[in-house]
Formats: sequence, structure tokens, C-alpha cells
Amino acid sequence: MPATASSASPQPIIQVEQLKKEYGEHQVNALKGVSLSIQPGEFVALMGPSGCGKSTLLNILGTLDEPTDGQVLFHGEPLFGKSEKALTEFRRKELGFIFQFFNLLSTLTVRENVSLPLDLDDRLPEAERSKKVNAILERVGMSHRADFFPATLSGGEMQRVAIARALVHQPKVILADEPTGNLDTENGTAILKLLREVSEQEGPIILMATHSEEAAACAHRIIRMRDGQIRHE
Ligand SMILES: Nc1ncnc2c1ncn2[C@@H]1O[C@H](COP(=O)(O)OP(=O)(O)O)[C@@H](O)[C@H]1O
Ligand SMILES: [Mg+2]
Repeated sequence: MPATASSASPQPIIQVEQLKKEYGEHQVNALKGVSLSIQPGEFVALMGPSGCGKSTLLNILGTLDEPTDGQVLFHGEPLFGKSEKALTEFRRKELGFIFQFFNLLSTLTVRENVSLPLDLDDRLPEAERSKKVNAILERVGMSHRADFFPATLSGGEMQRVAIARALVHQPKVILADEPTGNLDTENGTAILKLLREVSEQEGPIILMATHSEEAAACAHRIIRMRDGQIRHE
């Protein structure tokens, strides 16, 4: 076998090509031509000061927003240009989102919140659904709160539930936007440890935006951004 074959990278899960984003009439250039690729199994931290474009990039990767120019490839296939139906399917099957403010639905119990991504798939029998929900609540250490409402939980517990919801349908990609931004140091550290374990055991790629060096240090790789661009030092 030639020497180059063993060192060749596998096919990236996500490839971002020259992504640009301009916002509205104020002509804010939030992304100015960002390119990167993420390999299977990677946990990547997207670091940079507030306003540098981290959330914009995550939102475009999650197809919640469209780029002004450039493309995102998922397993080599361009996302932008697909029908709205295909994008909805992509989000439902392949993505899990984790947010700074948890975004749990306050009128649903922990169990019901975690079940949401599965409820979108009406082919999955109820018994299967609750088996998966129970297993993932166990995984994040929240089984004992399954029938509680979010308002009765601490921030760290809410984020555990949000992580369970992001994982329950076994997506290939987890997008986490400042997941520890609203937690104290102790809870933040525990959440980062959980994300690292999830990356190693469950194996989705994780892309985590953060402006904290401590949080970024938990990832396998750090991509640094400034002013809508990747810094190559
Ligand atoms: N919906 C929007 N409309 C106009 N400008 C926006 C919008 N969202 C973000 N921006 C601007 O784009 C830039 C990048 O923002 P953002 O991606 O939220 O950065 P970060 O997540 O790194 O803090 C900022 O200058 C911000 O003010
Ligand atoms: Mg942000």
C-alpha cells in the first residue's frame, strides 16, 4: 500500500465551502468566506469573541438559515438547493441542537420534551419510543426527573435533558451553541464532560460554539474565528 493511503483523511461528514452571510439592509457581513471540514468522530470547538459569527455559522449548518453565498456539503451532498421538505427531513433525522438557554418546552414534562424528536416519526411504535427515551434519560443521569416539568430543574439538569433530546434519535451531527454559557463552573464542567463522553461513545460529530477557553479545551480540535473569518495561525 502506498505511504499516502494510510494517512489519507476519511470522507468528511460536513464540508463548508466559502460560506458568506450578509444580514439585511445594514449589510452586516457576519461570515466572510468560511471554509472547514469535519471528519467522522470529531468534537470541534468553534471559538471566538461575541459577534464573530459563531451562531450564524451553526444556524446555517443546521439549515435554520441560508447562506448568501457558498455551500455546505453533508456526506458530500450539497444542502442548499434542496427542497424545504428535504431540508426538514435532514434536520429531523441527522441533527441534534443544544442551546445556551436549553429551549425546553415548559408545558411538557422531561419525558415529553425528550420524546419530541421521535414524535415526528409516526412509524415508530409507542413502546419503542418510550424505550429510547428511558435509555437516553438514564444515559444523562436524569431518569429520576422523567415526570418533572423543566421549571422545577436546575440549569445543569435542564441542559442534561436538552442533551438527551438532542441525542434520542441518534443524529450524526450535534450543534451546540454556547451550551455552558448559562451554567456555573461546576455544572458547565459536568456538561462538557458529558459531551466529550457522548462524542466518544455515541459517536456523532459535535460542533460547539463557545467563547470560553476552558470549554474549548474539552474538544478534540479548536477552530478560531474573528470578525466573520477563520483565523489560521
Ligand atoms: N438576524 C440578524 N440580523 C442582523 N445582524 C445579525 C443577525 N444575527 C446576527 N447578526 C450580526 O452578525 C454578526 C455575527 O453574529 P453571531 O453569529 O450571533 O455571532 P456570535 O454567535 O459569534 O456571537 C454580529 O455582528 C451580529 O450583530
Ligand atoms: Mg452566538
